Amino acid sequence: MRHKGVMFALLLFFASILAACGGAPAAAPTTAPEAPAEATAAPAAPAAELAVGIVLPTRDEPRWIQDETRFQEALTAAGYQVEILFSQGDSARERQNVESLITKGIQVLIITPHDGTAAAAAANAARDAGVKVISYDRLIRETDAVDYYVTFDSLAVGAQQAQYLVDNASGTDNPLYLYAGAASDNNAFIFFEGAWSVLQPKIADGTFRVVNSSAATELSGTAELSREQQAEIIGQITTNWDFNTAKTLTESNLTAAAAADKGAVFILAPNDGTARAIADTFAADPDVSSYLVTGQDAEQASVQYIIDGKQSMTVFKDVRTLVDDAISAAIALLSDQEPTASGAYDNGAKEVPAIQSPVVTVDQANVQEALIDSGYYSADEFSGLE
Ligand code: BGC
Repeated sequence: MRHKGVMFALLLFFASILAACGGAPAAAPTTAPEAPAEATAAPAAPAAELAVGIVLPTRDEPRWIQDETRFQEALTAAGYQVEILFSQGDSARERQNVESLITKGIQVLIITPHDGTAAAAAANAARDAGVKVISYDRLIRETDAVDYYVTFDSLAVGAQQAQYLVDNASGTDNPLYLYAGAASDNNAFIFFEGAWSVLQPKIADGTFRVVNSSAATELSGTAELSREQQAEIIGQITTNWDFNTAKTLTESNLTAAAAADKGAVFILAPNDGTARAIADTFAADPDVSSYLVTGQDAEQASVQYIIDGKQSMTVFKDVRTLVDDAISAAIALLSDQEPTASGAYDNGAKEVPAIQSPVVTVDQANVQEALIDSGYYSADEFSGLE
């Protein structure tokens, strides 16, 4: 409820700023789910009215559809025009999307980069056109053309995944399989860093034995890894945030694994999409007697997997909060003010002021309370809840 009140106030403020800027709010938002050329959902906004453009990385993962939906809900409620473009995992297309939004006259760009470093060029182009840049969820690296970063507590995401495995393991020599996100995504490093901080002591003391990364085994005595050491491990266990890559890598890990590496296994999976692919592959191996697998994003399909006992947990990142934070930051930047920051992230070129939202571990025990009672999903979207 508090959430809705804040949202409403923000949106009223946002609408009044837009009106003051000379652009009358439109009756309906203009959203373009694909590249500009394919953007046929609604007539294009007159340039002066399109103050904010949003670029998201791909429509192929439910995570980013959640963000699109929440942005649409929030901005539609304000009668505000916005264009949301997807880069489909392609930095060149991302750059075209940004250029297209700049041409349409946006003043603020909210962008989740496909590749954090490659996106620096797009951020620079925006800055050169006088457009403020908000990095949304993923940090754009190696440029000072990023004004603000809106993110979840990504260290906590990894730490909570790892803690779940630790809390459910007993004895020693438990087979542990590690998987990570895309090396082009700064978040993959932060998630892994958070996970490693919790897992490393438990690998070092013999609770877990890493099966599928020689680099992780070699570094098991090192509590704090350098970025290069993280990259070495991630290079061996990356899913590239892709379900098929996750499946293929898991299959090859299981083919190489000895019988002693199977039985009751523990799996660090970086997000829900890859977790489902990885879980299905472990479930299909007759030598795997049970598995515990982590996730992230509370995607609807994974919530059903959790209810069905096919995925052990997810880390819920309430996208409504992230959208609110991004809109608040956009409002501040549109009125030449500094957005509220609770810290800063080093992107390799500057300390980017940031606001960071908390995350919540969800498993069978609290799925009803965290995801249904909170209004994030409705009960009829799932079967077998009670
Ligand atoms: C996001 C995750 C998402 C992953 C794959 C990360 O940067 O923080 O929520 O699952 O990318 O798209």
